[in-house]
Amino acid sequence: MSRRDPHSYADLDQGRVSSMDLDLNVDFATRRLEGTATLKLAAATGGPLDLDTRDLEIRGVTAAGKEVPFTLADKDDIIGSRLTVELPAGTTAFRIDYATSPAASALQWLEPAQTDGGKLPYLFSQCQAIHARSVIPCQDSPLARFTFQARMTVPEDLTVVMAAAPGEAGPGAAPGTRSFSFEMPQSIPPYLFAFAVGNIVSQDLGPRSRVYTEPETLKKSAWEFADVDKMLLAAEEVFGPYLWDRFDFLVMPGSFPYGGMENPRLTFLTPTLLAGDRSLVNVLAHELAHSWTGNLVTNATMDDFWLNEGFTVWAERRILENLDGVEAKSLASAIGRNGLMEAMNSFGMDSPFTRLQTDSKGTDPDEFYSLVPYEKGYLFVSLLEQAAGREKFDAFIKNYIQHFSFTSITTAQFEAFLEQELPGVAAQVDAQQWIHRAGLPDNAPEFESERLAMLENLAKGWSDGVRPEVAAAKAWSAEDWQIFLQALPRVLPADECRWLDENFDLTSQGNSEILCNWLIIAAGSGYEPPLDRTRQFLAEVGRMKYLKPLYTTLHATAKTRDLAKEIFAANADGYHPIARGGVERILAG
Ligand code: BES
Ligand code: ZN
Repeated sequence: MSRRDPHSYADLDQGRVSSMDLDLNVDFATRRLEGTATLKLAAATGGPLDLDTRDLEIRGVTAAGKEVPFTLADKDDIIGSRLTVELPAGTTAFRIDYATSPAASALQWLEPAQTDGGKLPYLFSQCQAIHARSVIPCQDSPLARFTFQARMTVPEDLTVVMAAAPGEAGPGAAPGTRSFSFEMPQSIPPYLFAFAVGNIVSQDLGPRSRVYTEPETLKKSAWEFADVDKMLLAAEEVFGPYLWDRFDFLVMPGSFPYGGMENPRLTFLTPTLLAGDRSLVNVLAHELAHSWTGNLVTNATMDDFWLNEGFTVWAERRILENLDGVEAKSLASAIGRNGLMEAMNSFGMDSPFTRLQTDSKGTDPDEFYSLVPYEKGYLFVSLLEQAAGREKFDAFIKNYIQHFSFTSITTAQFEAFLEQELPGVAAQVDAQQWIHRAGLPDNAPEFESERLAMLENLAKGWSDGVRPEVAAAKAWSAEDWQIFLQALPRVLPADECRWLDENFDLTSQGNSEILCNWLIIAAGSGYEPPLDRTRQFLAEVGRMKYLKPLYTTLHATAKTRDLAKEIFAANADGYHPIARGGVERILAG
């Protein structure tokens, strides 16, 4: 392709797969998907066409009923194996017969015991950043958008849901099976392909939204996310009309490795958001915002990932401001900034990983995943908003979405559009430094909040004996607690840990952010009573945001180093392949 994706073998100049027809059988016994992918080309094509695969077994390729020669190259550890098909001149569609590997990096196969119901197995996919190729042989670059139809056949007691419009469901060809059909009429980048299979039920939450999950979590999920329709309306105010028809979402089993994933028409969410007090619904707002920034206007490659995440965090916080006010936004921004400083310090302030636009050829996107594109991106977009003024910037955002809808763009395309629509603003804020240089520029916006200052001062005074007033702190919001815990010293004497836990019951917190922050302090302090809870948490939860810092802390503390290995050994099988790899790297360090 004229613009190369460093993480794909695809060359769009050879031809473009613009739609796909999938027919896959799900075999829980062998942990394989088996079937066919029919790839349709945007224009008649002949000659070699390179596709991305990872650990796929290619059984045959045919075009117009005739066999097509193909070669499957040796596997590269990061980007997988190049599959070259030699298409006869004039080919408009070809079919690949294939099977996935039980170790497919996008798929997690769960035993019944790893689900809430405990009786039926479960399977789900997570394709971002470069795992679609382990499920479908495809041009696995966000530059290559396609529409698709899919049929999936599963054991008859299971249900298939997919990030697509559901069609008919009925008995499969083999006895004891059921087939589910789907159609995706809007073109998507491959990383947004997603499905799940399990004992899945649903409840309507609004005219355009429904929650799917296992029966055991349905009631809790419906309550937690009851405000989804309000969010949808708030998001449309920021961006313009919602173009994906429905905004449904699926609350996943605990092993889901992310907080949320913006699969179009069916966002995936971690059950760790079910705090019981709606205190973590910002993640739903975030995934919803991706319906515009990410899913309509898509990063061209992982080097432009900040275009997806920076704008989405900005939108998430605009929605928050709209629903909960400006103070709530300031607090969320402050929490984000703390996370950003931590991430940048751990890379080193002059590390290339602290740039917005990255140069990631030869690196594994799962390894350099960090808060930088999110929170540095957020600060940059907020700075642009301040410089342009809100009214002008709001108009700019709506134009940006409309102009680039259903396309995948580079950072340079964004910069050119910015200059065209808001001339002079880039120079005014020194956009060059923000986008292309390491570290955090001096003109980063600060978010003033009296509440924030109060909480941070309390935490800063901790070592001098300053303590929050117990009754007042019991009434703190979840965000208040997050700020306070983030600002406390990382290592506290045992009696101070005990004081915190006895007064505020931190070990039995339902809010997973507070709980995880606390468990990290306790582990880093060598304070033992919460370790059982840590062990239980690491057995139930596969979200990398929690696994990584917890394992890092347990591993870095002499007292708990062996425990980290022991807990991992007991739970590794239950983690998603991506999460397992991440923790392995930590424990090897
Ligand atoms: N698209 C991301 C998740 C992702 C990124 C998966 C890169 C794989 C590779 C999603 O929108 C996201 O950012 N999730 C966050 C939540 C958010 C509120 C910051 C998460 O999972 O924590
Ligand atoms: Zn995101």
